[in-house]
Amino acid sequence: MADNATTPLIETRGLVKKFGSFTALNGVDLTVYPGEVHALLGDNGAGKSTLIKILSGVFKPTDGEIIVEGRPVSFASPRDATNAGIGTVYQDLALNALTSVTRNFFLGREITHFSSPFGLLKMGEMDRIATEEMAKIGINVADPNQPVGTMSGGQRQTLAIARAIYFGAKVLILDEPTSALGQKQQMEVLKTIRKVQKLGDIAIILITHNEIHARLIADRFTFLSLGEVIGRGTSKELEGDDIKRLMAGGAEIGDLAKELAD
Ligand SMILES: Nc1ncnc2c1ncn2[C@@H]1O[C@H](COP(=O)(O)OP(=O)(O)O)[C@@H](O)[C@H]1O
Ligand SMILES: [Mg+2]
Repeated sequence: MADNATTPLIETRGLVKKFGSFTALNGVDLTVYPGEVHALLGDNGAGKSTLIKILSGVFKPTDGEIIVEGRPVSFASPRDATNAGIGTVYQDLALNALTSVTRNFFLGREITHFSSPFGLLKMGEMDRIATEEMAKIGINVADPNQPVGTMSGGQRQTLAIARAIYFGAKVLILDEPTSALGQKQQMEVLKTIRKVQKLGDIAIILITHNEIHARLIADRFTFLSLGEVIGRGTSKELEGDDIKRLMAGGAEIGDLAKELAD
């Protein structure tokens, strides 16, 4: 994990997002260092998805700055964010279950023998790259020609992550990567995240509702509630019930028990 002397890979300063008169983000500062798993936590409606949509070029902020490796950036489209090294793996993964692992890996970015898009595909080379890139983060695909539909949910996450990294992601944003999976596959995804962490300088922004997963894997935490940061810190700084309390929007368990009783 990086120390504070390192230049952040990505930062937001005073990020504001309004939808009409509604303020979804109200001055959010987020600082993500290379090589860390940064958990972005908060209750439904906290603004997590809005924040990552701004970072991935889907929404434009109403106000505030995004800074990538020390330079202010402005994203007019998701492609701009991808080109700046921000890879977002959405919950639906954007995979096609009927086509092969390799085809999904390259989707629209195939390697051809000629520079023309009608050139012959270099299938052998593409198979090799897809297999190698997935192996780097822990999944051994027996047959890169197998349809993605035959892979487990955990393997599909790994495919989407390996693809983002291969195509240049320095920051990987994972939106609830374990929420739709069974116990065993959740562990597979956490292992994949750990492998990416060990690659060294890629940062992961992990959105999760699972406190245990966040505790297991995150180096640093930012807690959002109703569009504002209500807490932040490293795994060392946050202890005991801090994480649980902040995930609940800052309420004490005692307050919640009282609310239930009322
Ligand atoms: N496109 C939109 N138009 C209007 N309101 C929105 C839009 N997207 C999100 N919101 C509102 O912004 C708030 C934050 O939403 P969201 O970022 O999805 O939170 P989270 O992902 O933390 O659950 C919610 O109150 C939501 O209703
Ligand atoms: Mg959300």
